[in-house]
Amino acid sequence: MKRTEILVPEAELARQREICRALAARNAARPTRPLALVDTYGCQQNEADSERIRGMLREMGYDFTADEREADVIVINTCAIREHAEMRVLGNVGALTHTKRAKPDQVICLCGCAMQEPSRAEQIRRSFRHVDLVFGTHVLWKFPELLARVLEGGGRVFETPESDGKIAEGLPVVRSGPLKAWVSIMYGCNNFCTYCIVPYVRGRERSRDPERIVQEVRELAAAGYKDITLLGQNVNSYGKDLGLDIDFADLLRMVNDVPGDFLIRFMTSHPKDASQKLFETMAACEKVAPQLHLPVQSGNDRVLRAMNRHYDRAAYLDEVRRLRALVPEIVLTSDIIVGFPGETAEEFEDTLSLLEEVRYDALFTFIFSPRPGTPAAKMPDPMPKEEKNRNFQRLVELQNRISAEKHAAYVGRTLRVLVDGRNDDGRHTLTARTDGGRLVHLDGPEAAIGTWQRAEITGASTWALFGRLV
Ligand code: 5AD
Ligand code: SF4
Repeated sequence: MKRTEILVPEAELARQREICRALAARNAARPTRPLALVDTYGCQQNEADSERIRGMLREMGYDFTADEREADVIVINTCAIREHAEMRVLGNVGALTHTKRAKPDQVICLCGCAMQEPSRAEQIRRSFRHVDLVFGTHVLWKFPELLARVLEGGGRVFETPESDGKIAEGLPVVRSGPLKAWVSIMYGCNNFCTYCIVPYVRGRERSRDPERIVQEVRELAAAGYKDITLLGQNVNSYGKDLGLDIDFADLLRMVNDVPGDFLIRFMTSHPKDASQKLFETMAACEKVAPQLHLPVQSGNDRVLRAMNRHYDRAAYLDEVRRLRALVPEIVLTSDIIVGFPGETAEEFEDTLSLLEEVRYDALFTFIFSPRPGTPAAKMPDPMPKEEKNRNFQRLVELQNRISAEKHAAYVGRTLRVLVDGRNDDGRHTLTARTDGGRLVHLDGPEAAIGTWQRAEITGASTWALFGRLV
């Protein structure tokens, strides 16, 4: 597809801004500013999308509330990655029949990945009559127009077109804090891992123009943001669709060259595309955090093939070895799926032994969840649920031991941390993050929030470090 067909035309975006202005004028005439609530499920990409939805709502004259009973507009940004996530959303949407009964002009909107599944959108149409607006991931930028249609009495609106997806530049944004920011560098996924629904609901890979990304980072740095995370389903294939001879490592260097005092993180990296050039770039760029999320999914070659992952155990371990040689301090995390269809007891042991070999700092573990329409959902899956649960438990216990050991090794060291907020654990006053992204609980003055400090690590648990400012 041509670039001009991938970018949402500026005239379309201008029309949305015009609708925002008209709604804002109407809202300004009301005795009090109307309130909106945006609730987000799922991954960081959804968080980033929700910040854009809040941006559009603010332009339409809304303030924000956390109380669904007083909200004039509720937007629920849904996730489809596992069945559990979808069921949780549906349960909460069902509960909104009560708030709507008490406040009949409340407008309830659903968006995000689950709404991009035709069967789910149909279920909402039939069985969730209190939902006024459903819009898919591909038309996020059209939210002002769609909301206006509902508010003008246009009835229920469903807009979930199938599409390869586009890029809407320059949408307004309300960021969730003054220190950490998400920057989407690309959207969609081309990998079709056999268990994953993302390529179906988020469309094909499309990269933002590098100058746009660098400009956004420049603005964030100037505004004082200190922790910037570049987001994409698979950031390592950034640029392949641009034809500019710029890959992700090149983009990292460009972002690293932006003046300012900030750290760059990024996720997610697919091991099949994590190049030596990327590792060398991470080592060479002083602003790039020593942190990598490199989902392995399984330690067994047959399972990896069935997952369509395009690497094997040996290649993955070799990557980790080469990365650690270049960035010895690297904090490494991963995703694992337990109970992929057909995974045997022996194959699962390979995942445990991979954990022992790699020794991740932390792990995100999931039991396989069949997603309708994906190849894995049709594969024979003989292992009983109880056995999968037992395997899951063993995996978690092993990783907890490793995480605790890795954390214990920090005790006695003094590290740079970014103090990022007040602590609500009841025992410490502040929270902070190491450059590698580890959570540190510590005591200190509130004035330290938003600054880099040096912290001596005095204790550790499975989940976090404890320390004091020095
Ligand atoms: N079942 C279980 N886990 C899944 N993931 C993606 N799809 C599924 C599924 N159908 C996990 C993968 C991925 C992470 C974001 O979610 O581990 O890396
Ligand atoms: Fe899903 Fe695989 Fe794409 Fe990640 S790389 S979003 S797991 S299909």
